[in-house]
Amino acid sequence: MPTKILMVCLGNICRSPLAEGILQAKLSKNDFIVDSAGTGGWHAGEKPDKRSIAIAKQKGLDISQQKARQFSAKDFKEFDFIYAMDMSNYKNILSLAENEADKTKVTLILNELFPGENVEVPDPYYGGVDGFENVYNMLDKACDVIAEKLTK
Ligand code: 4NP
Repeated sequence: MPTKILMVCLGNICRSPLAEGILQAKLSKNDFIVDSAGTGGWHAGEKPDKRSIAIAKQKGLDISQQKARQFSAKDFKEFDFIYAMDMSNYKNILSLAENEADKTKVTLILNELFPGENVEVPDPYYGGVDGFENVYNMLDKACDVIAEKLTK
């Protein structure tokens, strides 16, 4: 059975699609399934934001075929690890947890890089292109740590 990892942000169009593409590229497709979702459903069915698609392409990743969807309580049963981009996402995910086992699956993603510091991946939606490169670089480093943990 493959290990299943879910990346979660608010809209599932900026941050978590990048996190999905970045981690997927670091892991074997036979052994891991990486997906993403948003705590909000407004963008369900949409492709990632053009700026996320562009920064991914610049780094050699194609995320253009992803489709946004809303996180739901069923995801706790489906996934082994759930990574939140910021504290708001983290709290919204936990509010849907049904038991302790669900809760222990959820981690703020940058705590993999900076343990215990609760550093957030900033929402780049209302900013410029620089914000997307910054988010990409943070997620790339965090996903290096996650991939190493999951494969050793
Ligand atoms: P994301 O960014 O959570 O990284 O996908 C956002 C995208 C859209 C909105 C907010 C955040 N929005 O309010 O529509």
